[in-house]
Amino acid sequence: MKKIDVILGLQWGDEGKGKIVDVLAERYTKVARFQGGPNAGHSLHFDGKSFVLRSIPSGIFRDGTTNIIGNGVVFDPIAFRKECLELIAAGVPIKERLVLGRKAHIILPTHRLLDAANEAAAKKGKIGSTLKGIGPCYTDKISRHGLRIGDILDPDFKAKYEKLRDRHIADIERLDYDWKQNPVAPLSGSFEDEEKAFFDAVEFVKEFKTVNCEYYINDVLQKESILAEGAQGTMLDVDYGSYPFVTSSTTSCSGACSGLGVAPQQIGSVYGIFKAYCTRVGSGPFPTELLDETGEHLRAVGHEFGAVTGRPRRCGWLDLVALKYACIIDGVTDLIMMKSDCLDDFETIKVCTSYKVNGVETNEVPFDISTPIKPVYTEFKGWNCDLTQISEEKDLPKEFTDYVAFMESYLGVPIKIISLGPDRKATIFR
Ligand code: IMO
Ligand code: MG
Repeated sequence: MKKIDVILGLQWGDEGKGKIVDVLAERYTKVARFQGGPNAGHSLHFDGKSFVLRSIPSGIFRDGTTNIIGNGVVFDPIAFRKECLELIAAGVPIKERLVLGRKAHIILPTHRLLDAANEAAAKKGKIGSTLKGIGPCYTDKISRHGLRIGDILDPDFKAKYEKLRDRHIADIERLDYDWKQNPVAPLSGSFEDEEKAFFDAVEFVKEFKTVNCEYYINDVLQKESILAEGAQGTMLDVDYGSYPFVTSSTTSCSGACSGLGVAPQQIGSVYGIFKAYCTRVGSGPFPTELLDETGEHLRAVGHEFGAVTGRPRRCGWLDLVALKYACIIDGVTDLIMMKSDCLDDFETIKVCTSYKVNGVETNEVPFDISTPIKPVYTEFKGWNCDLTQISEEKDLPKEFTDYVAFMESYLGVPIKIISLGPDRKATIFR
């Protein structure tokens, strides 16, 4: 049997997974998404073109690659259709390169309304959700009310849809959310228009090949390896992230097993991807956040604005305590460092190597990461040169290689790939 190699974000999302999956996809004939949904925004840049993928795996641009939307994904037919039409317009033969897992749950328009209603009701404790209906859809999955891709062929699909919709509307009204009038409701038109768009999109989805993901994946593994593409990051994991400021899925490595229907011993390499600094979009604790000019500078050089919502991302220094925690939970075998070129003009670069919690120094992420944490930093001399001009490892400046060696020894995992720019080609393999 071959293995499933998994690529995961180790921070709060937006680490650059899209670029790396696209780069690594060359080595695989199958790429699978296993969790999350259109809350993800995976950006790819090649041949002077740029794309943002939401639900579709980042292997879609490679000829001869089959992309799988796994069972653990939450799937919005409207968002999917829109994403497909953009790819079709760009000449990507999407129907030949994509299959859908029948057990993936469907996001209804009312899931998005419920997301908005929950956020409006939360007042102070808002999650800062992308409002794509992710949390409510996973809630229905766990509470056993959900609809799945395999259900769309059921002659009773419409009746099942209406039953679930009416349940949602009752919940939305209980939350006192004016779903028909509310201007922040995440619908593009009236509710009736949205329902029509939903059923049109469901017809569109029927044109795609659907599979029993668990059989499909295990059959493929008889002969070929698979690359599993995570969305979000370990610090947004529903169990191990900064709960409750998390997304509603298992973003860590075990999510690949449950989301695709494979056993843990089938997991091969675990590629953990991180940025040379930290960002977070939405609310929740962020120990190394910089609310000063340094943070603003990072945002500007790193173009740290959300690919899905356009929101400015919160920026801060690299947090090795949180990164080590993610490496442990995910069983990371290979690290991939992104965007160190954004630190090119810093005289001094800081990395957080421990936390002070209630005056006590610790190397562990505490249970309640919203208790005040004072990061303890180790400082490095900046390399002060343009890393994007470097294409070979031997040309990297000493200050930079010292910084990399420090991280490898702290984390106990080798950094195998260093990305020095958004393009496919700006990648050093070590
Ligand atoms: P990619 O795959 C960064 C964040 C949201 C919010 C929280 C919950 O591009 O890295 P949700 O919409 O899931 O209910 O939002 O999680 N979030 C992300 N942040 N990158 C993402 O995906 C994210 N997906 C969700 O901002 O704080
Ligand atoms: Mg993103």
